[in-house]
Amino acid sequence: MKTILVTGGLGFIGSETTIELIKNGYDPIVVDNLYNAKRSVLDRIEEITGKKPAFYEIDACDEEALEKVFEEHRIDATIHFAGYKAVAESTRKPLEYYQNNLGSALAVLKVMKRHDSHGFIFSSSATVYGVPEHLPLVETDPVGSATNPYGETKIMIERILEDAAKADSSLQVILLRYFNPIGAHPSGLLGEDPNGIPNNLMPYVTQVAIGKLDHLNVNGDDYPTPDGTGVRDYIHVVDLAKGHVAALKRLETLKGLDIYNLGTGKGTSVLEVVHAFEKATGVKIPYVIAPRRPGDVAANYADASKAERELHWKATLTVEDACRDAYNFQKKNPNGII
Ligand code: UFG
Repeated sequence: MKTILVTGGLGFIGSETTIELIKNGYDPIVVDNLYNAKRSVLDRIEEITGKKPAFYEIDACDEEALEKVFEEHRIDATIHFAGYKAVAESTRKPLEYYQNNLGSALAVLKVMKRHDSHGFIFSSSATVYGVPEHLPLVETDPVGSATNPYGETKIMIERILEDAAKADSSLQVILLRYFNPIGAHPSGLLGEDPNGIPNNLMPYVTQVAIGKLDHLNVNGDDYPTPDGTGVRDYIHVVDLAKGHVAALKRLETLKGLDIYNLGTGKGTSVLEVVHAFEKATGVKIPYVIAPRRPGDVAANYADASKAERELHWKATLTVEDACRDAYNFQKKNPNGII
């Protein structure tokens, strides 16, 4: 397996994975419609790796455009990142979320089938577990129901892939359930670049750190967790990207479908993130305790041992590493990637 289609390959996780692919001798073919990414990310990938990947500015829902890519390249496997991902927005625009996220996955799978391309790695999410019945979360735990349309699209696409793999024994599918990706490339050239006021914790904290936002609102301090604030499994985006390279190796021997949690196995509270950030950067983060955010679970972290056993992959970077890298990226790109 050498030539890898990367849909959404200029996004936060996609770009970092494209870098890891190049570093590991793969030939990534990047597809992105630039809805939530900048073309200049390509130059930054080249600056980091010395190589500019092939790039198509197309929508992953566009079957005809994808056909052209598959005609021009013999695609050995696809990593499908493309999709809308903002939880709150998905509750306002459910139809767009279902259309875009399901539509792009279906389009890619149909074109793959026509071209006898069998490997598919899907960006799923820990959100598919719903409200955890126990922690840590294991891949065999039941898939719950999500509290928002974004999460439902992940659940539905997982189901589609299970049915597709049952129907076609040549299809090889890996569902990667990401926990909370944070951090940035250590060069400061690539990182998370949200539009408007960030919804997620780390970009919010980095914007407070550079003075763009006044203070952090901690969403609830009355959860049944050690300090009362929400607990998540924060994984450095570079570790996460390496998990995709490990999954590609696994595809070579895989029959059917398999599922892996990509997390660290360790839960960290909101206040622990704030303290880790202050320790890593020396910058104080003012915060106020605010009400709980609707739809949030108290705690959520992975049992990441299956990935370690079978993918020979393990997260090695810490939350402090991620804070340092995210801050470095934010300082170098105060207005995001231009
Ligand atoms: N939080 C705050 N203040 C903020 C933002 C977040 O206190 O301004 C808290 C949240 O309440 C939560 C924690 O920080 O306790 C993490 O929140 P994020 O928004 O960063 O991440 P989530 O766990 O809510 O969501 C992430 C991804 C989703 C994915 C989900 C899977 O953003 O795409 O993990 O578990 F679905």
